[in-house]
Amino acid sequence: MTSTLDIKIEKTKKSKLSEFDINNVPFGKYFTDHMFVAEYANGKWEKAYIVPYGNVPMSYAMSSIHYGQTIFEGMKAYKDDKGGVALFRPLENWERMNKGAVRMAMPEIPEELFMNGLMELIRLDADWVPASESGSLYIRPFLFSTDEAIGVKISDTFKFAIIASPAGKYYSEPIKVLVETDFFRATRGGVGFVKAGGNYGRSLYPTKLAQQKGYQQILWLDSETNQYFEESGTMNVMFVIGDTVMTPAVSDTILDGITRKSVLALAREWGMKVEERKVSVEEVMTAHANGTLKEVFGVGTAATIAQIIGIGYNGKDYELPPVAERKFSNKIDQTLRDIRKGRIEDKFNWMVKVC
Ligand SMILES: Cc1ncc(COP(=O)(O)O)c(C=O)c1O
Repeated sequence: MTSTLDIKIEKTKKSKLSEFDINNVPFGKYFTDHMFVAEYANGKWEKAYIVPYGNVPMSYAMSSIHYGQTIFEGMKAYKDDKGGVALFRPLENWERMNKGAVRMAMPEIPEELFMNGLMELIRLDADWVPASESGSLYIRPFLFSTDEAIGVKISDTFKFAIIASPAGKYYSEPIKVLVETDFFRATRGGVGFVKAGGNYGRSLYPTKLAQQKGYQQILWLDSETNQYFEESGTMNVMFVIGDTVMTPAVSDTILDGITRKSVLALAREWGMKVEERKVSVEEVMTAHANGTLKEVFGVGTAATIAQIIGIGYNGKDYELPPVAERKFSNKIDQTLRDIRKGRIEDKFNWMVKVC
C-alpha cells in the first residue's frame, strides 16, 4: 500500500513548551505544540497535515462516539544521552493498528502515511521529549469514524491523527492486582486483540470496584473457563517460576504487546527458558505455595515493567517476593532503558532515529 500525500505543515505561532516542566508532568495530561491529521473520504486517504494541537471539529452525530468505530495505538519516543531522539519499534505499532483496522472495518493506513506523519510530527516537537531517566514522549496515533449519521453502519469517512504527550513514570510504586472472576475483558471471536476504544470502556467499572478494594489493577481471566490468566490493565503479564519465564500466548482475546515481544526476545537471547502458553491460576498459586514463584510483572509501553507485589484471589491476598530480589525483570527494565538511552548496542535494531 502506498501513499504519496504531501503533508502540509502549519507551525504554531507560540510554543507552550516553556509553560511546563516536561520532566515532571502527570501521565497523559499535557500535549505538544502540534498534531498530525489525515482524512479519509471517497475510498482513499485524501489529505494530510500538521497543525497546532487543538480540538476535533465534529458533529454530535459523529458515528464513532455512538458506535465505537475507533482504535488507537500507544508508542514512545526517547531522548538518548547525546540528545538524539528515537522511536521504539514504530512499525510494530503500524502493523498492529492495521490488523485492528481490518477487524473494525476501517481503512488501513499506508506505511508511508503513518511513518511520514509520525516522523515529521516528532521532529517538529522534538524539544518536548524529556531527557530524564524515566522520561519519554508518549505518542498516541488513533483512527476514528467521522460520518455524520445515526444508524449502525460502516462509516464512509475517517480521520487518522497523532498527538503526543510528555511522560514520566506511569506507576510510582509496585502494584497490587485483583484476579477478576465476575467480569471479563474480552471473549473469543471478539476484539480483545485490538486496541479498540470499547475494550477500555468496558474495563473501567470492574477496575473501579477493584480500586475501591485497594488494588491498582485487574488481572483478567479467560471468559470461557475462568482458569487462565490473560492480561492486566494496559499490560501483558509475565511470571518467573523456577528459571522459566512464562506468559499467556497471544490469542484473539489478548493484545499482542510490543513490550511483551521485546522482553521475550531478550530472555531468549540470554538463554532463559521461555514459555508462551496458557498459564493457569492454579499453577501460579501452587508455585507461590511451594516457593518457586519468583516474579510477577506487567509489561507495556506506558509502564515498561510494572512490578506486581500482591495478588488478590477469591477473597485472599497473596504477597509476592520483594522487588529487589527479582533478577530477571530488573535486568530487563535496565536493559530496555539502556537500549533507549543509547548506552548499549541496539542488537535487534529496535530504535528508529528521528533526529
Ligand atoms: C490491553 C493491553 N494489553 C497490553 C498492552 C501492552 O502492549 P504494548 O507493549 O504494545 O504497549 C497494552 C498497551 O498497549 C494494552 O492496552
